[in-house]
Amino acid sequence: MTVIGTGYLGATHAACMAELGFEVLGVDVDKRKIDSLSRGELPFHEPDLPELLRKHTASGRLRFTTSFEEAGAFGDVHFIAVGTPQRSGEHAADMTYVDAAVTSIARAICRDSLIVGKSTVPVGSARRLKALVAEEARPSVRVDFAWNPEFLREGFAVEDTLRPDRLVVGIDSDEADSVLRRVYENALSRKTPYISTDFETAELVKVAANAFLATKISFINAFAEVTETVGGDIRTLADAIGHDNRIGRRFLNAGIGFGGGCLPKDIRALQARVSELGLDSTMRFLNEVDEVNLRRRERVIHLVTEVLEENVEGAKIAILGTAFKPNSDDVRDSPALDVAGRLYSSGADVNVYDPKANANAAKRFPRLNYCGSLQEAVRGADIVLLLTEWDEFVGMTPAALGGLVNRRNLIDGRNVLDPDVWIGAGWTFQALGRKSATKVLSEAAG
Ligand code: UDX
Repeated sequence: MTVIGTGYLGATHAACMAELGFEVLGVDVDKRKIDSLSRGELPFHEPDLPELLRKHTASGRLRFTTSFEEAGAFGDVHFIAVGTPQRSGEHAADMTYVDAAVTSIARAICRDSLIVGKSTVPVGSARRLKALVAEEARPSVRVDFAWNPEFLREGFAVEDTLRPDRLVVGIDSDEADSVLRRVYENALSRKTPYISTDFETAELVKVAANAFLATKISFINAFAEVTETVGGDIRTLADAIGHDNRIGRRFLNAGIGFGGGCLPKDIRALQARVSELGLDSTMRFLNEVDEVNLRRRERVIHLVTEVLEENVEGAKIAILGTAFKPNSDDVRDSPALDVAGRLYSSGADVNVYDPKANANAAKRFPRLNYCGSLQEAVRGADIVLLLTEWDEFVGMTPAALGGLVNRRNLIDGRNVLDPDVWIGAGWTFQALGRKSATKVLSEAAG
């Protein structure tokens, strides 16, 4: 089989398919990426993936190429895993790469085959792409088409691919269904739901899942705005509603909000697509989801300004974390990096430390002071901001930091530290969605 597009999704899928026993050819137009993967070197951070890549490139079961001709001759199942970024200046998804990949492979196919789309696309794309394949493929070959969305999470990409919690396939033929069942046979336990449906439902399952997750996060963050105003503790609130298993506790962690290469762009692309379909008001609530999310960043900046009594310019600020979430080096649409950049623009002297994402962050914001350790980042700081909940930050103690900082000010942007511990050690401690009880009471008394 081939996997076309060797970015995050494609590289993971290719290595996992090799692990499941297939001969796999990864295809990309980016020669540098192909050279690096061919040497067994992964160009991004993802747990367990480097080992799989090395193992299968060494055994020869996994190879990489820039040639679509080679791909067409090599396999009879072709996965499309290229990106669908947000179109610049718009909300809609950019389908240029998907269209180009599908056209190139359709032209190169020289035996009966199945093309399987995995990228996240606007609903209606699969049907359009199937027609494109029919136009581009040689008349002598039969090319089936299927849509098989991917739900992997960064940081758990290998686990999610090898042991998915469900498989969804959009098909319009029994042949495509049986090929995909055979492909995933070894990844399916007897209990894994395998949902085969039409193209449109398969495409929508993916965006519906991401829209739901984003809504859940913004829901709790909207309540954080309320508890910040009236007093209250957002974590206790989330725990309490989360005990209702119709709601569930996961994805109710209030903080600086969601980022990454999927949730933000997917909710925007969904709104854009639904508007194109004439359903302008249907997904309008996602606009609010996006806005609540972006307001969390303003809130952190507001807290910094308040704690520093308006003296942000020239202040030394330590930012812990720039990745959009822990265990990742991905800074796409990262709330943490956005906050760091804005504080820099306000004239602050910004030290940044992330265990894995410093290099990627530096490509976006070269002017921040990138530090090699937590200690180096907080040395001399007027305020420390925890913005990505890496274990290293969750485990830090007032004793370890107290002697290094200039002033004992801390903002917990992810609600992972114990306020009592820090306040007890003499720190000014602020967290999103948790107005300190003492402050509320004194205001009430005043
Ligand atoms: C997401 C989906 O989970 C995955 O199924 C899909 O295939 C791709 O998009 P990912 O982008 O890897 O995966 O990250 P995820 O773990 O979902 O987190 C997204 C963002 O939400 C992160 O910035 C995270 O910090 C934030 N988040 C998550 C919260 O702010 N609160 C939460 O409770 C959970």
